[in-house]
This record gives sequence, C-alpha cells and structure tokens, in this order.
Amino acid sequence: MDELARKAAELSGRFNLGVRTEKLSSLSAMGTGGRALVVEAETLAELAELLKIHRLNDWPYLVVGGASNILFPDEDVSFSVLRLTGTFAALKSSGSEILAGAGCSTAKVLALSEKAGLSGLEMTAGLPGTLGGAVRGNAGSAATGAAELASSLEMLDADGRALRLGPGDFQIGYRSLALPTELAGGIITSLRLSLIPSSPQKVKEDSSRVLAARRANQPRERSLGCVFKNPPGDSAGRLIDQCGLKGVKSGGAMISPKHANFIVNVGGASSRDVLALADRAADEVKVRFGHDLELEIKTANKRGLFIKRL
Ligand code: EPU
Repeated sequence: MDELARKAAELSGRFNLGVRTEKLSSLSAMGTGGRALVVEAETLAELAELLKIHRLNDWPYLVVGGASNILFPDEDVSFSVLRLTGTFAALKSSGSEILAGAGCSTAKVLALSEKAGLSGLEMTAGLPGTLGGAVRGNAGSAATGAAELASSLEMLDADGRALRLGPGDFQIGYRSLALPTELAGGIITSLRLSLIPSSPQKVKEDSSRVLAARRANQPRERSLGCVFKNPPGDSAGRLIDQCGLKGVKSGGAMISPKHANFIVNVGGASSRDVLALADRAADEVKVRFGHDLELEIKTANKRGLFIKRL
C-alpha cells in the first residue's frame, strides 16, 4: 500500500467524510499537478479533528479553496489537501455586514452583496475561488483587495483551537494578509465583512463594469490569474508585453496574447512548463528594465511548503 492509500485508510476509518485520492490537475484552475489525498471537512468539529490528526502524525496539509492562485507540483504530493464544504459554505447578510463561511465562492458572496445593496465587493467580480482564499491572499484589483473588508476572522489554529481575530490582529498588504506567527498552519473558517450601504442597482452596475473590464483585458483560458505582483508604480503585464513575450510557449503553457501577466494552459501544460515561462519572463524583465518581478502565485513543493522562486 503506498503512502497516500495508507493515509486514506486511516482517515476514512475515523471520519464519515469524503476522503479520496485525486489528481490535483482536476482541482487546479491551471489544470496541472500530481495526485494527492483530498479530504473534505463539513463542520468545524471535523476540521479540528483533521488538524489534530495531521499534527499528531506530522502530516503536512494545505487548505485549498478554488486552487486558482497556487501552482501544484507535477509529481504526486505528500501533503493532504483539506477542503471546506458543508457548513463552511454558510452565507448571510445582517445590516451592513456579510457573514460567510470561508468555503463560499466569491461569486456567491458578491451576488448576496448585490441583492442586499452592500458596496465593497464589486472589485471581486469575475474572480474565481472561495472567499477564504480571496481574503487569505487579499485578492482583488490593482488598488485594493478583499482582506480590507474583513472586520473579523474566525480561525482554527494548527491544534484545532477556535479563535477570533479583529483587524488589529492581522496586517494587510498588497496581495497579502499577515497573520500572527503563532497562527502559522491555522485556517480561516469564517469571516465577517463590513460593507457600505448602497442600492442593489448601483452595486450590480459597478460589479458588471468590473466584470466587463476583466473580460475585455484578461484571458478566459485556464490560468492562475496574474503570475507576478506589479512592481511599485508599474504593471508586470506591461513590462512582459514590452519584452515581446506574448504568445511565447513552453510545452502546453503560453504567455497570454491578451494579457502578458497571465500564463494560460493551451492544452496539456505541466507546472514545469508554467515555471519555465515565468522564469523566462522574470529574466527578460530584469535584463531590459532592471525590475525584480515577484511571483504573485504561490508555488507548492511536494510537502506543501510554499517555495520562493526566481
Ligand atoms: N498592459 C499592457 N500589456 C499587457 C497587459 C497590460 O500593456 O499585456 C498595460 C495595460 O494596457 C494598462 C496597464 O498595463 O495600461 C495595466 O494593466 P491592467 O489594467 O490589465 O492591470 P494590471 O496591473 O495588469 C491589475 C491586477 C489584476 C486585476 C487588474 C484589474 C496585479 C498583479 N494585477 O492588473 O489582478 O484584475 O489590475 O483591477 O495586481 C490578479 O491578482 O491575479 C490579477 C489579475
């Protein structure tokens, strides 16, 4: 029995929940990645138990929402992929706030804000993935991100203990949310978003405008969104475009002819192909413009650790 099968047998014995071995390429928005053990937690108690088991056995894990900003390795991985389903998709509005489970899709949260006439989430129109993932990576537009709307975060720490963080407990940066160091390995389970009262019509119009701009400027093929962060005062897409790299391919991956900061899967891409293009783009931008581009996407290794490349 291989390692994945052994873990699957142990977890299936303890839980009455979805434990399966799956190809990460079928979860990933990019469509790449080897096999992993995927475990779905439906309740806080199940998730806490899962964390404890992983901690006890020293098994690595990653919580994966829409897998729309993470590049998995091509080989089979030894980390478990934890997915938040069931009660983690709870969603309601109350006054000018939205209370949402971390597993809600950002699209559903935006739809509720439109219906309730609450402004703030319009910049997420067209973003794939879950609210938990969007807040964890402060996803959004060039100017702002979803984490800025969070007035509190419910979390489980790596030992499965529940706690609540207020805005003074985390730091928000460009495409980043820094949590206290003792919460490394912790998981955001639900969020409270503070929005601005407006009207359903206005919120809908503004989010439709954001969506139309995204569709006009960004590719529709499989991708992980923008690959690099923008250097201060400039756009990574513009710089890569200026290097003449649009349409350049490596295996089944291509620098999008529509927006040069996207690498798209044009059929049968591997993560290695994606990284080869990212390396080439960063090298050429460095030579031509002197900028050190920083990856926006996360790249995971076999044990689920994020590796800094370039
Ligand atoms: N540009 C080019 N060539 C390209 C791409 C862009 O010349 O191939 C030029 C555009 O013409 C424009 C400028 O660069 O003058 C900026 O482009 P754009 O408006 O597309 O914005 P961006 O800076 O490339 C940022 C975010 C996007 C977000 C959009 C819209 C980052 C890294 N990117 O892109 O976020 O959707 O603004 O708000 O912050 C993401 O985070 O995954 C992402 C795609």
